[in-house]
This record gives sequence, C-alpha cells and structure tokens, in this order.
Amino acid sequence: MPRRVQLDGKPIVITGGGTGIGAATAKICAAAGMPVVLAGRRTEPLEATKASIEAAGGRAHIVSTDVTQGNHATEILDAGESVFGPAWAVFANAGRGLDRAGHTTTEEELRSIFEVNFFATHILLTEAAERMLGRREGGHLLACASCVSKFSPPYHGAYAASKAAQDLFCQAMRLELAPFGIFVSTIHPITTTTEFFDVSAQVSGRSTERTSVHLTPKFFRQSPEQVARSIFKCLRKPVPEVWTSTIVRITAAMRTLRPTLMDRQMKRMLDERSDVPGQGS
Ligand SMILES: NC(=O)c1ccc[n+]([C@@H]2O[C@H](COP(=O)([O-])OP(=O)(O)OC[C@H]3O[C@@H](n4cnc5c(N)ncnc54)[C@H](OP(=O)(O)O)[C@@H]3O)[C@@H](O)[C@H]2O)c1
Repeated sequence: MPRRVQLDGKPIVITGGGTGIGAATAKICAAAGMPVVLAGRRTEPLEATKASIEAAGGRAHIVSTDVTQGNHATEILDAGESVFGPAWAVFANAGRGLDRAGHTTTEEELRSIFEVNFFATHILLTEAAERMLGRREGGHLLACASCVSKFSPPYHGAYAASKAAQDLFCQAMRLELAPFGIFVSTIHPITTTTEFFDVSAQVSGRSTERTSVHLTPKFFRQSPEQVARSIFKCLRKPVPEVWTSTIVRITAAMRTLRPTLMDRQMKRMLDERSDVPGQGS
C-alpha cells in the first residue's frame, strides 16, 4: 500500500450515499476526482446527491436498491463497473439504529438490524474483495461501524452488537487482505447530526422529538461533513480505524479496563423511559 494513495479517477462505491455521512463522503470524494457510485433504497436523495456532485463538476451514478435483498452486492458493483470501471474503494455505509431495551427487543427486530448493519456490509465487502483479488491491483474496503462498536449504551444493545460484529469481521479481513494490497478500514463516528436518529426512533415506535441526539451534549455532536473529512483522509492515507473524537476513543479503551466506571457514566441515559419497568412514565 503506497503511503499516500492517488485518488483522482479511482471509483468509489458508497451505500447509503443519498443522505448523511454517505452523501457527505460522496461529495468530498467526487470533488477530489473520484467517480462515485451511490446506492440506497430511495431514489430522491440519491438523485439530489448526484445532482450536487455533477453541479460541482464531479461524476456520479446511482443504484436504487435495498441492501438486505437479493444480489445487491453484484447489482451495485456491476452497475458501477459498467459506468466507471472497477471500484478502487467500497464504503459499506448503509445502516440504521434501534432504540429499544434489550429484553424488549424481538427476535425479528434483532435479525432485521443485523441484516442491514452486519450481513449487507459483509456480503458487499466480501464480493468486492473477491473482485479486487482477481484484478491484483489492490483497493480499499471501508465499513461505517460506530464508536459504539466498542461499548454499548443502554437501549442500543442490538445496534451496538451489530456494529461490534461488523468491526470484528473487518479486523480479521484487514489482516487477511493486507498481503494483497487491499486495505480494510472501519469508521467509528460519534453522534452525527443526520436522519439516523429520526429513522431509528420511527423504526422503534418512539417519538422523534426526544431521541439520543437530544440527550447528547453539543460537544459530542458532529456534522456528517466532519466525519466525511476524516473518511477522505483515510482514503488518501489508509489507517485501520477512523475515529472522529479522541476523547471517545480513549473512553472506549477505558471500557475494557474499568467497566464499572463506564456503566456509571452510561446510567444518565436511563431517564424518562417508558419501555423499561421503573424508568420514567
Ligand atoms: N448518525 C450517527 O450518529 C452515527 C454514528 C455512528 C455510526 N453511524 C453509522 O453511519 C452510517 C450512516 O448513517 P447516517 O448517520 O449517515 O444516517 P442516515 O442519513 O440515516 O444514512 C443511512 C443511509 O443508509 C441507507 N439505508 C438504510 N437501510 C438501507 C437498506 N436496507 N438498503 C439500502 N440503503 C439503506 C439510507 O438510505 P435509504 O433509506 O434511502 O435506503 C441512508 O441513506 C450508518 O451505518 C450508521 O450506523 C451513524
């Protein structure tokens, strides 16, 4: 892997590319000359991101697909290859949350969140890896995990577990693929102001007026553009893990050393909850 990757002209595939972190990353990549393949279910946000990229002189192609269905990986990678040629980078970013206490999470909800956050990521990244291995030109695989892949806040156990699974699978792939010049990076954003929290509340049958983003101090909130800049830096100079907050990274490390201390910190999130006996209304 070169110390600094020349990205101009190298295609990137981004799932969840119509909104939030995916859209912001797509715009930065396109501005640097990378043709971008944007995938997601809704056509409108994909079209809007594409239009914004093209207005700035970049190139984008959209694939409207559900990453939990059918042969989405083949569909997305084939579509990208036919327009821009083989992808240099593939960013598995599509994902969602679930705002629910562990003991009230149904098996169906658990399987459903793992489908999009874990299985879809790895179906896409493993197929991309196969193609990169066949071409012998290297490449870069990225997965949008989360800071909570290393610790779990209350009510987000299913989400954190799906992100931890994603993170661990990528850790092994990173070592397996390094000899072939294929870099694997995981992204660990902290609270990012996107549609994520509204979608999560809706899926969980909760109000969108008071979600986790409202409980997060301003200091720990970031814009998707901030996260995208860190991701782009990693594309230029690959690193194993992208963290967007040093304090949270240190906190994540502390979780292993001092679980009781961390649990005490997390307890403040146990407020005003009606889905847990003894909590709130
Ligand atoms: N926001 C945060 O605080 C935060 C923190 C850490 C990590 N993350 C992670 O960052 C990633 C991006 O989230 P975001 O914050 O940018 O939120 P977002 O704006 O809601 O982005 C999620 C994207 O995933 C797509 N998506 C969801 N389910 C899909 C499916 N079944 N098939 C295809 N596409 C699907 C959505 O598009 P469609 O609905 O149109 O399909 C959407 O564009 C997620 O993996 C999330 O877990 C977010």
